[in-house]
Amino acid sequence: MKEGRRSFLKKTVVGTGVLAASNFPYIWVKNSSLAYAAKGEVKVGVLFSLTGTTGIIEESLNKATIMAIEEINDSGGINGMKITPVVEDPASDPATFAAKARKLVLNDRCVSVFGSYTSASRKAVLPVFEKRENLYWYPTLYEGRECSKNVIYTGAVPNQQQDEFVPWLVEKFGKRWYLIGSNYIYPKEENNYCKKLLADLGCEVVAEEYVPLGHSEFASVVNKFRSEKPNVIFSTVVGDSVVALHRQYRAAGLDPETMPMASLTTSENEVAAMGGDAAAGHFTSAPYFQVWDSPENQKFVEAYRKRWGEDKVTHFVSEPSYFQVYMFKQAVEKLDPSDISPQTIREAVKGVELVAPQGLVRLDPATLHTYLWPKIGVCKSDGQFEILKQSSEWLAPVPYKAYPDQVCTEAGLKQV
Ligand code: ACM
Repeated sequence: MKEGRRSFLKKTVVGTGVLAASNFPYIWVKNSSLAYAAKGEVKVGVLFSLTGTTGIIEESLNKATIMAIEEINDSGGINGMKITPVVEDPASDPATFAAKARKLVLNDRCVSVFGSYTSASRKAVLPVFEKRENLYWYPTLYEGRECSKNVIYTGAVPNQQQDEFVPWLVEKFGKRWYLIGSNYIYPKEENNYCKKLLADLGCEVVAEEYVPLGHSEFASVVNKFRSEKPNVIFSTVVGDSVVALHRQYRAAGLDPETMPMASLTTSENEVAAMGGDAAAGHFTSAPYFQVWDSPENQKFVEAYRKRWGEDKVTHFVSEPSYFQVYMFKQAVEKLDPSDISPQTIREAVKGVELVAPQGLVRLDPATLHTYLWPKIGVCKSDGQFEILKQSSEWLAPVPYKAYPDQVCTEAGLKQV
């Protein structure tokens, strides 16, 4: 019987071993799962900006990811295989993200890539992972409305940050809200969900305003805060702009007691950069705060400080950056080394549970998003948050909560 083209190619690639994957069309290596776990190592990409406007936060995601990889390698690797990180700096630029993602997937033959803070950068790399059937591990809170089979989502979606937060703020401070965000998809979609919650509560949105990414001049915005006198300023500003906004709010003498900022993006990391005084009295909703009291978190915080410096902080995006590497480990551990590929890892990670620093988390098999533990914190002048409220149960991710006629399922996006 004549040998089929595919099986011939598979034998060619596996048999010769020396052929560089990047020199051949993808179809040639696609079935060669051995290529992903060669020489006692599995290669992964680490794609967080170390420079540019979101470098302020992404640099800490790189650190948390590298620390988890080092810990796993130091304790014997995954079934004896070491994880080899290939680190790239996409410099906060979506086009560079896409170019680096292509390099990691095609040239370096990474079996997975851990990366991204902004949704703009995730959207930029998504076609690479979908076209090449690879796997992107995304640790950041984001707007939902995505149902890719090529992304593992370990950060919060809007229902996991807003469902408790918005009604709590309305009850405590009032119904006149000012929405301020950076100008890209994440803040707009997040505000879309916020406006639905506010409408149900009979609230008024007095302004909805977007500033360019990297914006640092908030004088006119702060003047509008003063003239509009909202009860709550709902902020989805990201990166360096978080620091500028808080500092200029404080310099203008506005008072968090009567006009607090309520943020989904202000973590201990941005607070460390702006100084605790500028953030004190403002609120954040997140599944994790550094002060969370658990043995797993104590271990995480101590290890992070030991590895990266006593002045360094952990936060609600570095924590999933850390635990998602352990999810990767649990998935790869289930596989025979000859069967390791992005697709087999995706199947193996479905339903994985582990005790993360925030508590027990679970990867939802249907949506590839994560069950998390929402909390509300108020920032103190020492730069840490006091946790005021926490959910009594983990909360399921509902990535299409703002679009109830759509649901993400294991078979893909469905109209209902
Ligand atoms: C974000 O852009 N997902 C913060």
